[in-house]
Amino acid sequence: MSSSHRTPEVILLPKTFSTPADLDDIANHYKGLRLQGLLSDPNSFSSTFERESQFTLDIWRSRIQNPVAKTFVSVLDGNDKISSKTIGPDTTGSDHSKAKGFQNLPQTEWVGTVTLLGPEIWSRQDGDAISQTWDLFTKAKDVPQQALKPRDYSGAHVVYLIAGMFVLPHARRKGHGQQLVEAAVGHVRDEAKNLGAWNASIVLQASQAATSAQLFYEQVGFEAREESVMDSSPYTAMVRDVNLQMDE
Ligand SMILES: CC(C)(COP(=O)(O)OP(=O)(O)OC[C@H]1O[C@@H](n2cnc3c(N)ncnc32)[C@H](O)[C@@H]1OP(=O)(O)O)[C@@H](O)C(=O)NCCC(=O)NCCS
Repeated sequence: MSSSHRTPEVILLPKTFSTPADLDDIANHYKGLRLQGLLSDPNSFSSTFERESQFTLDIWRSRIQNPVAKTFVSVLDGNDKISSKTIGPDTTGSDHSKAKGFQNLPQTEWVGTVTLLGPEIWSRQDGDAISQTWDLFTKAKDVPQQALKPRDYSGAHVVYLIAGMFVLPHARRKGHGQQLVEAAVGHVRDEAKNLGAWNASIVLQASQAATSAQLFYEQVGFEAREESVMDSSPYTAMVRDVNLQMDE
């Protein structure tokens, strides 16, 4: 990546808000970004603009507040410059609407997003894995909306899925995609360690029609593991193992 690019600011969207209007602001902002993505890159998503443009605001609110999905956005500040500050992922359960920078979040320009689903348990230290890591998610038709029941993650290999990744065309090749992935990886590392997991991986399914997306994912640390077909679309399963020993 060119060294002339400043580090993009990536923010983990909060799930709790001081007022209903704050939630609506964020839900509307996210809706605008997502619909632009569906329009500009229709082949990169399993959903369509036609479908999601019909969603009520209630559906967008529930996407933001979905307890098993963490959504990150990459933003430009009010001066149309990429900010050098990164608000780290929240592992404390604190209210991000009070986090530094949130007050201005609706005023910033959002140019990219990624959603992280999980964790799912792939295997335990004393048991064999029953499937490929990505199979844990392939049966899900849409983002699950139920909070995960409390589970014992100690000693487990936990797996997360990356979904809905995109950067608006005018902001590409400036590092937003990479910083979104790194924010997701940082979140997984912190959360998996806090849960007592021993191993963690992030998986995704890259459409084989999107060869540039695969090149991007390889560049940011994912390895292609298997080619398969889901709902008649061929995809490549890609995996990035997350080192839980690192302290960043
Ligand atoms: C894939 C995507 C998210 C990349 O976002 P981005 O912000 O442009 O990515 P970055 O600037 O962080 O790129 C990091 C590196 O990845 C590689 N890369 C990114 N886009 C690439 C492309 N189109 N072709 C080849 N390599 C690419 C490059 O090595 C790049 O570094 P460089 O610009 O210094 O050469 C963006 O192009 C996109 O939204 N595409 C459409 C939607 C999509 O395909 N989503 C994935 C669905 S599976």
